[in-house]
Amino acid sequence: MWSATKGRWTSPGLELRMNVKNYVRFEFCSLPENVSFARSCVGAFASQMDCTLEDIEEIKLVVSEAVSNSIIHGYANDPGQKIEVEVTIYDNGNLEIIVKDYGKGIEDIDQALQPTYSSDSTRMGLGFTFMRSFMDEMEVISEPGKGTSVRLLRHFPSQGNQAMA
Ligand SMILES: Nc1ncnc2c1ncn2[C@@H]1O[C@H](COP(=O)(O)OP(=O)(O)OP(=O)(O)O)[C@@H](O)[C@H]1O
Ligand SMILES: [Mg+2]
Repeated sequence: MWSATKGRWTSPGLELRMNVKNYVRFEFCSLPENVSFARSCVGAFASQMDCTLEDIEEIKLVVSEAVSNSIIHGYANDPGQKIEVEVTIYDNGNLEIIVKDYGKGIEDIDQALQPTYSSDSTRMGLGFTFMRSFMDEMEVISEPGKGTSVRLLRHFPSQGNQAMA
């Protein structure tokens, strides 16, 4: 719709997210081969920001960890389930990544976030620790039986106009 006050075309969705520079959302089934798909997609999207190759590698790593957790823990390796990934670049240079599943959820989030804690004795229990250390913010919302959403945020201070290139 045309907004007379703003003097430009707007849509209701964009109106609500005016500080958003760019946004992507995709979903895929919980197959292990989709871990590399998701990390490549998010890495490609994030690379439009003013950041280093090392930053991109770190972003890819945290996406792998979060998506792997959804597949392994959320869905107990059942390949027919759905994972959603949403990535937003904000005007202020923030990159936000949300990885969401509708799986088993986490009973005790504080315990799950402890370094080296794993509900699976064969694993290292370091996924959340990596996510927390490579990102500026990490928020885990989970409800047993309903699923888990991990929100990761990283600030890239020197954003010029590259993000729109
Ligand atoms: N999406 C999820 N759904 C259900 N439980 C989860 C989810 N993500 C994490 N968890 C729980 O939190 C624990 C800690 O996760 P974290 O990624 O830190 O370690 P891990 O996956 O067990 O081991 P690693 O990541 O080192 O292979 C997991 O063992 C699991 O019990
Ligand atoms: Mg993990």
